[in-house]
Amino acid sequence: MPSTLLNDTFLRALLREPTDYTPIWLMRQAGRYLPEYNATRGRAGSFLGLAKNPDYATEVTLQPLERFPLDAAILFSDILTVPDAMGLGLSFAAGEGPRFAHPVRTEQDVARLRVPDIESTLGYVLDAVKSIRRALTDAEGRQRVPLIGFSGSPWTLACYMIEGAGSDDFRTVKSMLYARPDLMHRILEINAEAVAAYLNAQIAAGAQAVMIFDTWGGALADGIFQRFSLHYIDAVVRRLVREHDGARVPVITFTKGGGLWLEEIAACGVDAVGLDWTVNLGRARERVGARVALQGNLDPTVLFAPPEAVRAQARAVLDSYGNHPGHVFNLGHGISQFTPPEQVAELVDEVHRHSRAIRAG
Ligand code: CP3
Repeated sequence: MPSTLLNDTFLRALLREPTDYTPIWLMRQAGRYLPEYNATRGRAGSFLGLAKNPDYATEVTLQPLERFPLDAAILFSDILTVPDAMGLGLSFAAGEGPRFAHPVRTEQDVARLRVPDIESTLGYVLDAVKSIRRALTDAEGRQRVPLIGFSGSPWTLACYMIEGAGSDDFRTVKSMLYARPDLMHRILEINAEAVAAYLNAQIAAGAQAVMIFDTWGGALADGIFQRFSLHYIDAVVRRLVREHDGARVPVITFTKGGGLWLEEIAACGVDAVGLDWTVNLGRARERVGARVALQGNLDPTVLFAPPEAVRAQARAVLDSYGNHPGHVFNLGHGISQFTPPEQVAELVDEVHRHSRAIRAG
């Protein structure tokens, strides 16, 4: 049965079409700040046990939507499933970040690296996409909100694949970049092919928009960012299927710390650019004109301030963008695990309320 979207505000804003209000979703909206997430994670045994089980992934994807009137759902998974599918051996030690048992360090490691077969290695993600689409849709085929699929950028994946874990200074990956740019380009080319195949498989399974997380692009020098991160985001975007079931599938890219390169990022063929909180949205809009929609960009730590301050800062972000189509409200990075959930309710309410007021003049 073809589904009809009850709320397509998010997709319309990404395509810079007029909307009655500004849609909002939050990066990491399903996660540890929600007690119900921690309960499901406890039953699953671990984060990977949760992410690799489509029923649990569906359950936690829907949790924030039960609490708050958010305008989009995002697939519950992680960017590191792709290097895991490449055989690097992902684990999450309790209280620590991610770790790979087999990081990519030598010429031999690079020579062994392959684009994984998506269906056989990441089938659990595609099953989760299908299951979430079903859970968002009622018996009459009416879907509450659209579903976002995602991947890490080729560069951000390479950071974890080479470091073998998170890093403060990216010494190992940057050393390889400067010492052996040929090896780095080889890894990034494989990653770009893998990411494109992965996102296209998510789109075929039912993802209605996709987002590329370039979390560590902003750690690169000017000139290096363009050649080692943006070039490969461009290579992914050029390979993406942009229409599915007769609907346009918008593409968002987000480089944390990428405000400096906004014009160049906006030229890579995406529909929308995510921005962190260091950028003024109004000035950003002047720089890119109507070429792309913008997503962002409240500082996530605002959610620790009293409700009135949360509301005032939400209005400041909306006012900075002004009364124009093409804004999707979000945080400038993922929500903190220590955020009180009630504060998210205040934020979502104020974004909906104040954006309607802006449109009413
Ligand atoms: O936004 C969503 O709600 C969807 C789920 C999602 C997760 N990770 C779940 C997750 C998304 C979109 C991601 C992306 C991701 N993962 C990024 C890019 C975006 C960003 O935040 O910068 C990165 C760099 C990762 C890698 C990663 N995953 C790290 C460094 C960690 C450990 C640190 C941390 O924040 O816990 C994870 C684990 C992870 N991914 C958790 C969640 C909810 C917490 C795991 C837990 O439950 O213990």
